[in-house]
Amino acid sequence: MKTIAIVGAGVIGAGWAARCLAHGLDVVATDPGEGAEAKLRASVANAWPPLVRMGLAAGASLERLRFVATVADAVHDADFIQENAPEREDLKQALLAEIDAHARPDAIIATSTSGLLPTRLSAQMKNPARLVVGHPFNPVYLLPLVELVGGERTAPASIERASAFYKSLGMRPLHVKREIEGFVADRLMEALWREALWLVNDGVATTEEIDAAVVYGCGLRWSLMGTFLTFHLAGGDAGMRHMLHQFGPALKLPWTKLVAPELTDELIERVVGGCEHQAAGRSVKELEQRRDGFLIDLMGLVRKHWPENEGLAGRI
Ligand SMILES: NC(=O)c1ccc[n+]([C@@H]2O[C@H](COP(=O)([O-])OP(=O)(O)OC[C@H]3O[C@@H](n4cnc5c(N)ncnc54)[C@H](O)[C@@H]3O)[C@@H](O)[C@H]2O)c1
Repeated sequence: MKTIAIVGAGVIGAGWAARCLAHGLDVVATDPGEGAEAKLRASVANAWPPLVRMGLAAGASLERLRFVATVADAVHDADFIQENAPEREDLKQALLAEIDAHARPDAIIATSTSGLLPTRLSAQMKNPARLVVGHPFNPVYLLPLVELVGGERTAPASIERASAFYKSLGMRPLHVKREIEGFVADRLMEALWREALWLVNDGVATTEEIDAAVVYGCGLRWSLMGTFLTFHLAGGDAGMRHMLHQFGPALKLPWTKLVAPELTDELIERVVGGCEHQAAGRSVKELEQRRDGFLIDLMGLVRKHWPENEGLAGRI
């Protein structure tokens, strides 16, 4: 893969562009939004210092980013196309059909959708065999995970080629074998998010207190071992079997709600006000820089303490 097309260049499209450029690839982007080219170049420039810190590949250059006016121009010469338009099924269906009509027959088409089903997204494509979901995580230029999901008509070879490509970008592909809404990681995050909103809604805790519960507790250990292995240790020497025996009954208690609360004006104000209080006047850009520096250090720590951990061995 040498030339990558980015269709839709907002938060996620710009993240993909930065990651691909850092790996020495040519990137051609398109986005119909007003001022989209300037915004894309500013986002990629912001991502560049952390990428330099991670180590650039030979030939990596910001000058290898081209912005073009149409989807046809963006995709016609691309080896791999990553679609990152807004999360609307009808919009993506039409856009993926347009990409399909102009792309080379051997090019792979990936969509960054957070949870829409690839079988439905490919409804208007002539060659649905080449469509895969390649669901990344923000910031795409640093986080290694990418969920791969095929639809009913996706060819296994397309999944394999996409997986090999993402690995070449230093990523950790996770093939989600069953096509389900929300895939794996967003289902988990959504469950936590719904509970967090309830806790704010019911006045149990502020946004800051809930974030403290994650930051000083479960979040620290999740970053090394995830949910299951963390709980394996919670069972003492007998591991997960004892943990299930001891805490299994609690699963029947009504601890969680899981159905999202109504986003009333009051809840929105509490959540937004809480986040603004936590940000304490720091801009999103400042917070992003702090997050990026931390993520690079954290990935180094995971590598150090779990060197056999697949997916964090690469450069970026
Ligand atoms: N933000 C996240 O954390 C995140 C994480 C993973 C996946 N995603 C997915 O990535 C995709 C993009 O999300 P985002 O957060 O970057 O949104 P965004 O709003 O930042 O960017 C969307 C971009 O698409 C452009 N656009 C609008 N219509 C278009 C069209 N017809 N063709 C091409 N581009 C078009 C917009 O101008 C905008 O720049 C969505 O499918 C979303 O679910 C988002």
